[in-house]
Amino acid sequence: MKDNIDLDYNLAEEIINDIKEDPMGDWFSLPDNFSNSELERIKTVAKKVQDNSDYLVCIGIGGSYLGARAVYEALGLDDDEKTKTKLLFAGNNLSSRELKKILKKLDGKDFSLNIISKSGTTLEPAIAFRILKQELIKRYGAEAKSRIIITTDPEQGALRELVNKEGYDSFDVPLGIGGRYSVLSSVGLFPLAVAGVDIEKLLSGAEECKDTQLSPDSLETSMLVAYAFSRFYLYDECDCDVEVLASFEPSLIYFNEWWKQLFGESEGKNKQGIFPASVIYSTDLHSLGQYMQEGRRNIFETFLRFSPEKNSLIVPAEKNSIDGLDYLANVPMTEISEKALSATIKAHDAGGISTFEIEILDSESETGLSERVLGYLIFFFEAACAISALLHGVDPFDQPGVEKYKKEMYKLLGK
Ligand code: PA5
Repeated sequence: MKDNIDLDYNLAEEIINDIKEDPMGDWFSLPDNFSNSELERIKTVAKKVQDNSDYLVCIGIGGSYLGARAVYEALGLDDDEKTKTKLLFAGNNLSSRELKKILKKLDGKDFSLNIISKSGTTLEPAIAFRILKQELIKRYGAEAKSRIIITTDPEQGALRELVNKEGYDSFDVPLGIGGRYSVLSSVGLFPLAVAGVDIEKLLSGAEECKDTQLSPDSLETSMLVAYAFSRFYLYDECDCDVEVLASFEPSLIYFNEWWKQLFGESEGKNKQGIFPASVIYSTDLHSLGQYMQEGRRNIFETFLRFSPEKNSLIVPAEKNSIDGLDYLANVPMTEISEKALSATIKAHDAGGISTFEIEILDSESETGLSERVLGYLIFFFEAACAISALLHGVDPFDQPGVEKYKKEMYKLLGK
């Protein structure tokens, strides 16, 4: 794709400087400028939670929880018996059924709460917090206070007032960082540290991305810049207004959700923007695959490829088998999945879909999905998204449209 378009590297440099100087651009310096004392405090409070809780319930919606959930699930920690304190995610919907499920999981278990809300007024987390806080107080009485950690605006809002009044442990959502760019701040790093994630590796993966993709002398070979400009070119010149993020790993479902929120809220403004969608193959080759191959050609696709998992399951040999699978006897599943990925790109290319392939390898990682890889990808997409939104001529860091439904809802609820 890069070969078809003329990339303007001066413009890329200008845009990157604009991002750095934007009042909401402080996420850009998180990977290489994270405060050491904040990092230490995150670890100290995380250790306290690990020592007294089976679960940390992260209460937040949108950018306040998606990044942490994306990393937690991509690393497979939800299913890992080595994870001492597991994370649960509440306050990201208005479903009583979902909250009951969480209360049921907490039955007979020790837990703490981390409410994350920059404004402190978002309805979904506020309701979940009230319900879960009452459960906490019922369970622990005065000790409940030491089991609440609040992540919010450093200066104002209902939650900051609560911290000042009750003396809860708290972290700041930095003033110059919006929700969807906050995963590498205390917003994402604190719950991830509780779950045992190596948060320094996450940050250094992001730093590696920043150094190799965005330093002034790397722009001309930067995949990130090429991706950001090419997706805008596809939108502007080729009428492609849907991007599908595709991978072959089910543990990336929440990474996809994080990515969709990042691009959707950043770009979808002024009646324009690329609609972000996602698939998990090969599952979705059996549902959306037909559309991708032969449906409307207003789509482009971005594939993620990782190092294969070590110790992959292997298709066993079988004597006298009649299932027609002998040609795959003793072949690792990872190899089959890799071939399926290459084949899908080839088929979709031939079907008239423009495809990007982002390959990010970590030969030391057991699973291919390490903290380093995820930190790299997070920064890659955050920066590509901000660049791309600025190419569209919209502000990557606001979300005025989100307020509209809230107004209508509050009217109906009689606020
Ligand atoms: O990316 C964003 O800014 C939003 O998705 C917010 O994170 C989300 O709306 C939650 O807002 P708050 O943290 O104020 O509760």
